[in-house]
Formats: sequence, C-alpha cells, structure tokens
Amino acid sequence: MSTKRVILDCDPGHDDAFAIMLAVQHLDVLGITGVGGNSPLGNVTRNALTVLEAIGHADDVPVYAGCSRPMVAELVTAPMFHGKSGLDGHHRPAPTHEVQRGHAVDFIVDTVMGTDDVTLLATGPLTNVAEALNREPRIADRISEICIMGGSVTFGNWTPAAEFNILVDPEAAARVFNSGIHVKMTGLNLTRQCGFTSETVRRFREIGTQASEFAADLTEFFTSAGRRLDDPTVACMHDACAAAWLIGPTLIRSAPMHIDVELSGKLTRGMTVCDYRHLCGPHPECDIERDAQTGYKGDDPNAEAALELDYDGYLKLVYDTLARYQ
Ligand code: BDR
Ligand code: CA
Repeated sequence: MSTKRVILDCDPGHDDAFAIMLAVQHLDVLGITGVGGNSPLGNVTRNALTVLEAIGHADDVPVYAGCSRPMVAELVTAPMFHGKSGLDGHHRPAPTHEVQRGHAVDFIVDTVMGTDDVTLLATGPLTNVAEALNREPRIADRISEICIMGGSVTFGNWTPAAEFNILVDPEAAARVFNSGIHVKMTGLNLTRQCGFTSETVRRFREIGTQASEFAADLTEFFTSAGRRLDDPTVACMHDACAAAWLIGPTLIRSAPMHIDVELSGKLTRGMTVCDYRHLCGPHPECDIERDAQTGYKGDDPNAEAALELDYDGYLKLVYDTLARYQ
C-alpha cells in the first residue's frame, strides 16, 4: 500500500464504487465521506458500506455522512445512470456495518488538522470539501492536494458546458478551485477515454472473486445505463480515473492550467473555465519549446488538468486490483 494518506469524498455511484475499490487497496484511505449527489445522502453512504463489504474492508475504513444538499442550489440526482438505489445491478445483501457517528465535514477538518500530508480524493459534488474549508480555512495550507473527478477541459455532460459533479454544486466547486489547494482535475475530456465494455465484464467474471463478480454486476448495469451515446458498447467509469491518477501518476498525461468555475452564465453555469491558451498557441507567453523543457510558466496555474489516459495501463490496474481482493 502507498503511504499516501487519503480521504475519499464520494457519492457512490457505480464509478465511485470503482474509485473505492482502487483506493482502498493502493492508498492509505483514512475514511470515506459521503455527499448527496448521484443519489440522496442515505443511499450513497449505504452504498459505500456495500462496496467496502464486497471487498472485505468494512472493518478498517470508516464511512461518514456529510452534506445532503448543495450549498446554494437544490440537489440534482442521477437515477437514470445509477438506478433508484444509486448502485443498482449488484446482488449484495444490505450492509451490516454502519455509518460512523459525527459529520463528514468535522471528520475532514479534524483529520486534516491532526494529520500531515492528507490528500483529498473527491468524486462527487464538492459540498463537503467546501464546507470543511469554510469551517476551518487553515486546512487549505495543510492539504497536500485535491484530486477530483469533475469538470472538463472541453465539453459537459449535464449541460453542453457543465459536468454533473460541478453543476450540482458550482458554488462549492468555485470555493475549492479558489482555495489555494492544488487541484488535479480529472475531467470528462479524460474520463471518456476510460470505457468499460462487455469484454471488461468478461474479464471480471473470469477473475471469479467476490469483488470481481460485484464489479462485473456493476459494470453490466452501468454499461446499459451510463453508456456513451456515440458508442453504446462503452461505459466510462469516470471516478476510477481520479483514483488511478493518485495511484499511478504516469497513467495520465496532464498540463498545468488556471481553472475557475462559472457561476452565473445562462448557458454555462457550472462550466470549468480552463485557461489552456498556452497549449494552443495564441497565449501571449506561449513558447512551446521552452514550455516542453521547463513546464508551463504562464499565469498562475492553480490546477493540473488531466488530458490523456494510458488506457491499457489503467485497465491493467483495475484487473490486477480486483484479482487481489478475495
Ligand atoms: C460524474 O457524475 C456522476 O454521475 C459520476 O459518479 C461521476 O462522478 C460524471 O460526470
Ligand atoms: Ca461520483
């Protein structure tokens, strides 16, 4: 296991489930915090426990319930992709473990203030993280970085401009991107490269463990519900990519950028506005050769945007991980 200490904030969710399965095996997961998103809060915390029981780690990873609704907007959920339960398609019994006492926001604040070098991995709306920053602003200086699935360098999915996690709570996302914490953004432009197919399901079944059967059931459901309209045989396990980036930094090629969140646009609320002018030429400070040698030295990048996935390496990580769970 890596010594990277992580709090995983999520809204499981099929792809969140894969983020959990990857993170628990390869990172030091201090706790999982649930946030209202794909499904109401009660569902997502129960689903986190279901995933942990399926992989045999419910005794060593505590689960906390956090914010049930966004900071300003009403909660939007995604039953059309994740089913009524938020994690339809598996055959596990109801979990026997319970959510911890105490609020997820307090858990995040107390853990970060009491533990050096904590990384946040956030794969749902950023409400819990923003509320933690509001409650204890000093956590911004103590968090190593935050790796999110959310946003996009290019297109949206919930609206033409906005990705679901950011659109559900844009005010929270703006708080995080402007917090001073370095953000690794695993956006849709990256996660659409990570498709799972019927071949993926076949490989999971071939592994034949309790965890891989669970993964196969989830993927089968998500492949029929969460598929890409341009290629109905593919479902993108978005959130797993963010976990994979922390586990294997070379699995993803990225670029530094300044990223902020649009809060008021009639067509663009929730859009992650990415300044990538240095990648396409007309940026006044662009110097491709210098940037290739020294890294980007333009205006104040607050984030690193994921651009290109090593798909084979990513799939190998997923298969190897599932094979190691009993
Ligand atoms: C994101 O939205 C959710 O439905 C998924 O779990 C993922 O975090 C993709 O836009
Ligand atoms: Ca999610």
